[in-house]
Amino acid sequence: MKILVTGGAGFIGSHTVVELQNAGHEPVILDNLYNASSKVVGRIEAITGRSVPFYQADIRDEDALREVFRKEAPEAVIHFAGLKAVGESVRKPWEYYENNIGGTLHLLKIMKENGCRNIIFSSSATVYGDPAFVPITEECPKGTCTNPYGWTKWMQEQILTDLHTADPEWNVILLRYFNPIGAHESGTMGENPNGIPNNLMPYITQVAIGRLEKLHVFGNDYDTPDGTGVRDYIHVVDLARGHVKALKKLAPGSGVNIYNLGTGQGYSVLDIVKNFEAATGLNIPYVIDPRRAGDIATCYCDASKAERELGWKAEYGIRRMCEDSWRWQKNNPNGYDG
Ligand code: NAD
Ligand code: UFG
Repeated sequence: MKILVTGGAGFIGSHTVVELQNAGHEPVILDNLYNASSKVVGRIEAITGRSVPFYQADIRDEDALREVFRKEAPEAVIHFAGLKAVGESVRKPWEYYENNIGGTLHLLKIMKENGCRNIIFSSSATVYGDPAFVPITEECPKGTCTNPYGWTKWMQEQILTDLHTADPEWNVILLRYFNPIGAHESGTMGENPNGIPNNLMPYITQVAIGRLEKLHVFGNDYDTPDGTGVRDYIHVVDLARGHVKALKKLAPGSGVNIYNLGTGQGYSVLDIVKNFEAATGLNIPYVIDPRRAGDIATCYCDASKAERELGWKAEYGIRRMCEDSWRWQKNNPNGYDG
């Protein structure tokens, strides 16, 4: 199937493009390179041995989108493009609403114009807010988000759902990711954060490589086994494969379907530090700092719906996630810049 992958040069998008090609699909990347490097395209092609069309374009640029649809005529869109830094979204709410929601509205307009009504959307566990219960099932009510980024995901889900209500020809899959980490096993593709990482694993790998002095653990007084925050970390390649499986569900009349993509296993911050140390033989110095505003204690999912309905289940455990994250960081100390 020909699939337009918006944000396909980014962390999750690039790994998904590899898995789509491996499964015999024809992905087409559209990315404005705001948070990605064009070098990723060559890395993808080196892994799969197949070329991939790449358009440097913005989803807010309707003419550019029209041109891509005219040339490529995709049957479905996997929509990753968006801004994703939680803290930045608090400082720059307008930019987040304009890019994420505005961009999605332009994309949907051009899809409709071209008779393409199949979309898989990158949502997030963040829509559950402080979850009503754990493990979180898809029936868990959406909660109150603590930042504009989270609200953009919340609202984009609503927009896609309303679109289907108005026109049942839309087939929509909302994938709620938990915490993606890891990297491609080749060590040539991985997460490439700008500046000081916000997320735990890239922060740890940058301490390991010597770019940062020590990890700051945000709070050890949560109601969790060791007091630090518990999350459901998932290998990015498992997550990517979840999209390939989800494509099969995008059949006419399939409606709106929601899936959690996680492992179902929660690990604390200190569990991650210990597992990373065991996987790499390195020491990760850390200090305990105050809690980070907006953080919750525990977030992990029940992923059984995806297994039942998509035949998808995460395969890689925490050790493999740590090994692959480290291989990518070690081989590319400055990300795609060398
Ligand atoms: P990423 O920043 O690596 O990828 C997003 C890509 O979108 C980037 O390559 C960026 O250049 C591109 N982009 C941004 N705005 C664009 C625009 N207007 N037009 C065209 N391209 C644009 O992030 P990621 O971690 O790969 O995340 C992919 C998606 O998954 C995002 O929507 C993100 O919100 C969502 N998500 C990520 C996580 C996570 O922890 N990484 C968790 C839940 C959901
Ligand atoms: N943490 C630290 N120190 C750090 C970074 C993080 O102690 O330097 C802790 C956090 O307090 C939290 C855990 O590590 O307990 C994970 O934090 P991340 O920032 O890696 O991830 P979050 O769970 O806060 O959020 C991530 C993405 C969101 C997404 C969410 C989905 O950043 O975009 O996962 O569950 F919505």
